[in-house]
Amino acid sequence: MSENHPAAVIILAAGEGTRMKSRTPKVLHPIAGRSLVGHAIHAARGTRPEHLAVVVRHRRDLVAPHVAETDPEALIADQDEVKGTGRAVECGLEVLPPDLTGTVLVTYGDVPLLTTETLLALTADHEASGNAVTVITSVLDDPTGYGRVVRDADGQVLRIVEQKDAQAAREAGAEDGAALDIREINSGIYAFDAQVLRDSLAQVGTANAQGEKYLTDVLGLAREAGRAVRAHVVEDRWQSEGVNDRVQLAQLGRILNERTVTAWMRKGVTVVDPATTWIDADVTIGQDTVIRPGTQLLGATTIGEDAVIGPDTTLTSVEVGDGASVVRTQAELAVIGPRATVGPFSYLRPGTELGAGGKIGAFVETKNAVIGEGAKVPHLTYAGDATIKEGANIGAGTIFANYDGVDKHHTTIGRHSFVGSNTVLIAPVNVADGAYTGAGSALTGDVEPGQIAVSRARQRNVDGWVARKRAGTRTAEAAEAARAAGDGTGATRSDGAGSRHTGSGAEGGQA
Ligand code: UD1
Ligand code: MG
Repeated sequence: MSENHPAAVIILAAGEGTRMKSRTPKVLHPIAGRSLVGHAIHAARGTRPEHLAVVVRHRRDLVAPHVAETDPEALIADQDEVKGTGRAVECGLEVLPPDLTGTVLVTYGDVPLLTTETLLALTADHEASGNAVTVITSVLDDPTGYGRVVRDADGQVLRIVEQKDAQAAREAGAEDGAALDIREINSGIYAFDAQVLRDSLAQVGTANAQGEKYLTDVLGLAREAGRAVRAHVVEDRWQSEGVNDRVQLAQLGRILNERTVTAWMRKGVTVVDPATTWIDADVTIGQDTVIRPGTQLLGATTIGEDAVIGPDTTLTSVEVGDGASVVRTQAELAVIGPRATVGPFSYLRPGTELGAGGKIGAFVETKNAVIGEGAKVPHLTYAGDATIKEGANIGAGTIFANYDGVDKHHTTIGRHSFVGSNTVLIAPVNVADGAYTGAGSALTGDVEPGQIAVSRARQRNVDGWVARKRAGTRTAEAAEAARAAGDGTGATRSDGAGSRHTGSGAEGGQA
């Protein structure tokens, strides 16, 4: 064990958390994309302890597997029916080597803002001062509910008195009643000498207002044994703040988010509106990227440099390349290549991979779609189970009909091919490299290189239909007036392309 790296960290997570009023155990509720206990494990693991144990009991069936998934090296300790933080730590010690020496840190699974830095500072202070116990404390305007730190004339900690015991003492006119007026509180986070912790816990009973085995009693016992017990005061009270109900969950979530957003701004990311920007703990963002208002970057999202994200964009575990632009978009488990553009109003579902410089435009939904470099899906399209190769262009309103009601099928569009507007690609379909499909086609078969595939009825114009079937309407009047003036279909077109509408020409995609 080297200096500053504790021998062990024990995280207490056995409590019920009844005030959450939830079917989900309190420590599994997330903020910033990690469970509360996940935050506690992350901070603890950062101190590089020799051992890390998490004490569980309530909903062990859910909490233990979650801990194992979060940190496979973590040891799971089971608390028995004896209640209290002291018993919880005793159960934690049971999964550690019986002859463990050095510093043991104790933290809580419901205190998410505590940082590795604070735990390392606590450990360093504890070891440098030669303390048997060092407790993190804060001075609060309203200390109600917390254990109060009773100090002696030298400033050392004499003992900790729990709120309920202080109240009982005051009612009985006993000395500890005065503890109610102390504003320095026990955060519940400590560094212990392993030997002192083991020996003292063996002596702790349950004769108190709550009938629990208090961890706090260890401090008084260590003092009585002539050992040093000191406080490590942390000014930043949020670091030791626990979550008891959903109001505090939201409050701590907001504070953590503020810290995360501030840290990214300090690293060179522009955040236009920090108040409406939510960035999860595991997200990374490159220099000179701009995050516009109303953006949520969630999960394992990574954003490159010089990208523009937002406004009103939610990315969950999305990889965005350098210089990409993602506007008013919802995306999950997708890759957006460098310099690609997405949005506005795009929905990228899992398995979407957009190549460098590619485009997914307005009102486009994609799923399992690999879109090559420079390929474009600009408007009003569903592309599911698709490979769209380099430089291809998908016309407006194209539907990749991937589902036949039983199975999903794949569609491939080749390099630099051009799918006409309002095409339905009834998968499986392969459009080769350098091919076209006619606008308005419903394709069921493959298209070879250099071909155009058209599958729609040829246009048929019936002369005199309006006069016969809609006589007397304003439409008929307009037709009559146009005929009298000598206007025809071709004559009204200034671009000379009128014949395209009656001829066999079949392109008509949107660029
Ligand atoms: C505890 C401290 C109190 C301190 C406060 C800070 C004791 C006796 N009191 O009080 O001095 O000011 O924390 O928040 O330690 N837990 C278990 N098993 C148990 C009981 C609790 O694992 O049997 C865990 C809980 O899940 C929670 C933590 O320990 O994460 C604290 O438990 P809680 O009941 O909230 O302790 P407090 O009464 O608030
Ligand atoms: Mg508590």
